Amino acid sequence: MDLKITKTEKPKQLPDESKLGFGELFTDHMFNMDYDPEQGWHNARIEPYAPIMMDPATMVLHYGQTIFEGLKAYRTSTENIQLFRPERNMSRLNDSAKLVCIPEADEAFLLHALKKLIAIDKAWVPGAPETSLYIRPTVVAMDQHLGVRPSNTYRLFIILSPVGAYYPEGFNPVKIWVTDQYVRAVCGGTGEAKTAANYAASLYGAEVAKKAGYTQVLWLDAIKKRYVEEVGTMNILFVINGALATPNLGGSILPGITRDSVLTLAKDWDIPVQERPITIDEVMSAHKDGSLQEIFGSGTAAVISPVSHLAWKDNVLTVGDGKVGPMAQKFYDAITDIQYGRSEDPFGWIVPVEEE
Ligand code: COI
Repeated sequence: MDLKITKTEKPKQLPDESKLGFGELFTDHMFNMDYDPEQGWHNARIEPYAPIMMDPATMVLHYGQTIFEGLKAYRTSTENIQLFRPERNMSRLNDSAKLVCIPEADEAFLLHALKKLIAIDKAWVPGAPETSLYIRPTVVAMDQHLGVRPSNTYRLFIILSPVGAYYPEGFNPVKIWVTDQYVRAVCGGTGEAKTAANYAASLYGAEVAKKAGYTQVLWLDAIKKRYVEEVGTMNILFVINGALATPNLGGSILPGITRDSVLTLAKDWDIPVQERPITIDEVMSAHKDGSLQEIFGSGTAAVISPVSHLAWKDNVLTVGDGKVGPMAQKFYDAITDIQYGRSEDPFGWIVPVEEE
């Protein structure tokens, strides 16, 4: 497929890298591509960043038929720009697409277009410590129609945002609230897809958690309300008796790419890895008997996020000494060292963004 490129005549001012938040600023250009049943995906183009005009009857606005991805580009100390396991994001985008009846796109072409887009906006890839360029590929249903059915037409776009840490805490530990009152997703639903509905379903519980002084919610399974699932923007991992335990991917949990990277590293380091059902009661009793050593989250936006406190019913447990644990630190260092090119890439995770 051809890729048409139109550059902006009005470049924006680059941001102050010391003041980057998360997902607030956007670069000069974006990628767009359209789908209709006759032409398939077509009209691939990189063009100036601009709003998308939508008829008020556009289906995505009513039924939320939309999927997205999140990945990052990193600037190395030698001024190279590189991506971390981007082919995984492209294939997960297609996995999400299947679950909400969106037509799949050519993963190799998407990666090619993404590299071109980043090369054009390379000045926007920040170089300050622990900053990066967050990449958001998204697909939205574009039919103008109010009956409930899959759309026939779609827009796929990719936008870029220079970012700092996702949580205001940065790498400092976060406090997590566990609830059996609200649920995020159920097996057989869309929990393992990166689709807007999962995030909409998480908002109310997350606000309740925030009001109670917690950063995020740790969701339990929606049926028995016993099994730990994920924290809305990251997967969750426990260090119990020296082993790394995390909920298995049962259909309602996002298959995180950082999660997979942590598990791959752990196996390489001969740390016992357990992907299995974990009940909240097990976590509480492991804390009681002293075998719970650490809890941390993993995600593209969050990277590795240590958990200092876990609130469940009337108990608020302090994990370890409430500070960053050695395992969380080791994974954070190993992953970010690979991402920023400070260490070897033994697993072939890095994909360079070639110059234009
Ligand atoms: C990510 O880690 O990229 C996510 O998608 C989480 C989020 C900010 C929704």
